[in-house]
Amino acid sequence: MEYINNELCLGPLKKPLLPLCANYMRPIYVYDLDFVAQRYQAMVKALPGTRVFYAMKANPNVEVLQKLKSLGAGADVVSLGEIKRALESGFNPQDIVYSGVGKTRHEISEALTLGIYQINVESLPELERIGAMARSLGRKASVALRLNPDIDIKTHPYIATGLKDNKFGMELSLIPDLVKCLQTYSDSLSLVGISLHLGSQMLEFSGYQEALKRLKAVYVDLQKMFSSLTRFDFGGGLGIFYDRLDIELEESLLKDYAKITMETLADLKCELQTEPGRWLVGHCGALITQVQYVKKTSAKTFVIVDAGMNHLIRPSLYEAEHLIFPLKKTLETMKADIVGPICESSDFFAKERTLGKVQEGDFVAIMDSGAYGYSMASLYNLQELPLEICL
Ligand code: LLP
Repeated sequence: MEYINNELCLGPLKKPLLPLCANYMRPIYVYDLDFVAQRYQAMVKALPGTRVFYAMKANPNVEVLQKLKSLGAGADVVSLGEIKRALESGFNPQDIVYSGVGKTRHEISEALTLGIYQINVESLPELERIGAMARSLGRKASVALRLNPDIDIKTHPYIATGLKDNKFGMELSLIPDLVKCLQTYSDSLSLVGISLHLGSQMLEFSGYQEALKRLKAVYVDLQKMFSSLTRFDFGGGLGIFYDRLDIELEESLLKDYAKITMETLADLKCELQTEPGRWLVGHCGALITQVQYVKKTSAKTFVIVDAGMNHLIRPSLYEAEHLIFPLKKTLETMKADIVGPICESSDFFAKERTLGKVQEGDFVAIMDSGAYGYSMASLYNLQELPLEICL
């Protein structure tokens, strides 16, 4: 983020945002595709030999997907809707890893018929279901076991997934039952990998390293029984800093993460896979919204904008703090709550925030909204969805 000639710009190529508001109708998510490419390339360089499957739940915009596909990424999907979007955007079934705890019969049948590269299985009944369905379809499903090592990565509880009271993955004590099931369905199930994903917005890696060690031992044991087992999927979850844009600092965080991953798994003979979402696209997007009112009460000043929690739910849901800047630089500042039009007191973007002084009609950008922004938007209060523009 930088102001050039007093106008807010996005990304390393410093693309100005104000021109997008010339015929402003409603809030706009803007994504810088060159920035997405830069992030992807940094990740691929840090993790040599690792196949990157972009977790498209972070941002399933078609142009973002096409960009990542053109750079060589695969897609990590969690629904038939995401499979369809990935295919429409140019991915092949063999570029797709399919995760998620609730795959329906219909979804599994489509995935099997398409020949999806890998299905990450999250429970014993799911493994049985896939085995039985693949058998009746005369297919052999390539499955990876998503294991839950019961590890805390110290993130917001709503986005932690690797603890035993989370619904995700399978406890290590279940392995004997999983082995039996794989043997029962040896004609229709091929164990190709094991996977883990401990949660999102991970900024500290001691728990992650411990999880890798535990799963590495499991991998070695399973490989003795299943020669088809060749893939180790170390998940996504690498965090970003929301309180600053410091690309060098984040690339050094990426390097630490890569070093731990590569060193811990160095002696494992396997293909490495990862499923990042936020790290690739989070900083590359901003939500532009217009100030409707500046409302003063005896307690506070509220800047009421036309975007709401229905457009970007992260502050309401996870108390996430996104930086907010006026599109035109101002010398004066003000302290205010920045809120939306939705009829909920949880409809806020920031509380008691000092920001450049704005007035009715001005535009502000809610930064770092490229991940889990539009993809989590809803029609609550029947407010229209935002527009999306790629630069
Ligand atoms: N793989 C699996 C199986 C996942 O469930 C997720 C994210 C990822 C990969 C990608 O994680 P990432 O690299 O983006 O951290 N809405 C929340 C984040 C939810 C993450 C859900 N799963 C937020 O806005 O912070």
